[in-house]
Formats: sequence, structure tokens, C-alpha cells
Amino acid sequence: MKIAVAAVKGGVGKTTSTFCLAAVLSRMGKRVLCIDLDSQADLSAAFRCECDASNPNIGEVLNSSRREQRSLMKKAVVSIEGWADLITPGSQLDHYEKEVEKGIGSDQRLRDALDAISSEYDFILLDTPKGDGLLTRNALVACDQVVVPVQMEWLAVKNLPRLLQKISEIADRLNPDVVVSTFVPFQLRRTSFSKRSYQDLCNWDATPHLPFQQAPIWVAPPVNDLTLYAELSEAGVPIYEYPGVEDKHIEPFQKLADYLEQQRCASLEVSHAR
Ligand SMILES: Nc1ncnc2c1ncn2[C@@H]1O[C@H](COP(=O)(O)OP(=O)(O)OP(=O)(O)O)[C@@H](O)[C@H]1O
Ligand SMILES: [Mg+2]
Repeated sequence: MKIAVAAVKGGVGKTTSTFCLAAVLSRMGKRVLCIDLDSQADLSAAFRCECDASNPNIGEVLNSSRREQRSLMKKAVVSIEGWADLITPGSQLDHYEKEVEKGIGSDQRLRDALDAISSEYDFILLDTPKGDGLLTRNALVACDQVVVPVQMEWLAVKNLPRLLQKISEIADRLNPDVVVSTFVPFQLRRTSFSKRSYQDLCNWDATPHLPFQQAPIWVAPPVNDLTLYAELSEAGVPIYEYPGVEDKHIEPFQKLADYLEQQRCASLEVSHAR
């Protein structure tokens, strides 16, 4: 199953979600590939994987012909020992993005590239940059499900219609089966202000913004505002190995992983029945 972790807003927890989800899914024995679609390369840094110029990266893959993509994609995968696989953005993703934008089928190139390797993984997690630019659009076209981290602050749901509108357009034209599966409340504080944002999200009706989607959006258990989550990417270790982490800190990501695994099994059953 291919999952885009996306939000129009920056700094809301996309990379942290991807990093923690990858750890928990791997611990469950799932085969996981993460693709870092952000030129900031925060996810690659968290995995301690510098952009190695000798390795093909996602920018090069997207900018190559469909025939070349297949072999490049396999070469671009870096195995992070005992954990997940990763494809880095490379140091020239911005340059490639401009090149790809000019080309034919620019929104669909990641989807084509993933065909080469998707059967090798149970989960492919796409960490997107902020905004709804070309790389985010590629992720939304390529994915089966979208997971949306939402920061529990003032006007938490304000930016959601823009993202859902973009996904609806993509569902209409390019990816009719895409499902917005989950909102992940992020950085929940003890303040009444933050708690109110959480209630707003739980009560928010996304239906008018997602005319193509029958299934409701699940609101995952909230991730609290805690320094340890911020420290994880600096430490570069899976969440369950970080000193001082307790089950309660892992639980939101474990529940999210369990939910996504259920969704994956259900979609496999549907495709077998066809
Ligand atoms: N639950 C949390 N508690 C405290 N800090 C957090 C939490 N989750 C993430 N952070 C910190 O908030 C910042 C933003 O998180 P993150 O990088 O995951 O967001 P992002 O949406 O990927 O950002 P960008 O749009 O820049 O890619 C980071 O410094 C991260 O360490
Ligand atoms: Mg990020």
C-alpha cells in the first residue's frame, strides 16, 4: 500500500509521522520503503542517510524516461540496516523539479516509477514537502491513501479544505481510487486552546470537500507535544529504541500502523475477489 503523508502546511509533523510510522511498521515485520520527496531532506537526515551523489535519487528517477525509471528506481533504494529502505531526494531535487514540470505527464511520473518496485513492499511511505507543488501532486497521484498530520493550534482545520480540494481534483482526473484515510492530530498540548482544536478536528465534517469519497476519515489518537518526538530525528533511531520512550509515546503510531495494516489487508481481499 502506498501512503502519502501530506499537508499543505509546513512544520506540522509530516516527516515525524513518516519516520515513526516506518519504525513501527518495520517492527511489525512489514516491508517498508520511505521516499523523501522534500529537498530539505529531513527524513533522509533522520535516517542518517546523506544525499550520496553516486546513488540515483528520486529527482533523477522522475526526470528520466519511463524505460530508464525501472532500473534507476531499484538502484536508488538504500537499505537502512535492520529497519526500512529509503530513497533520498538528492541534492538537486529543486533543479529536477523544474525540469520535470516542463515535461509530459509531470504529475504521474512517481506513479510510473513505483510500478517497478511496489510489489517488493507492504508499505511505501511518501514524505511530501509543504505546499501542493509538483512533488506533493506526484505523491497524491501515486498513492492509495493519504494520511494528513494536523497541528493542534489555532485554526487547525483552516488549511484542510485546500488540501482536500487538490486531492478531489486529482481523484477526478488521475487517481480515482485515492482515499483520504486519516487525520493525525499532532502536538496536542494540555491547554484548553489546544484541546479545543482537537475537538474541532474530531467534529469537522470533511464530506463537502471530498465529493468522490464514500469512506469517512478516521481521526487517529493524538500525538502529544513532547520534546522526545522532536529529538527522535536528531537521534536517528527508531522510536522504540529511543531512551526514555514508553509504550504510551509509541501508541499513537502503533494504532495508526494497525489501522493502515487493516486497510491494506482489506484492499488485498478486494483485489483477490476481483
Ligand atoms: N509531537 C511533537 N512534539 C514536539 N515537537 C514535535 C512533535 N512532532 C514534531 N515536532 C517537531 O516539529 C518540527 C516539525 O516537524 P516535522 O519536521 O515532522 O514537520 P513537517 O510537516 O515534516 O515539516 P516540513 O513542512 O518542514 O517538512 C520538527 O522540529 C519536529 O522535531
Ligand atoms: Mg518534513
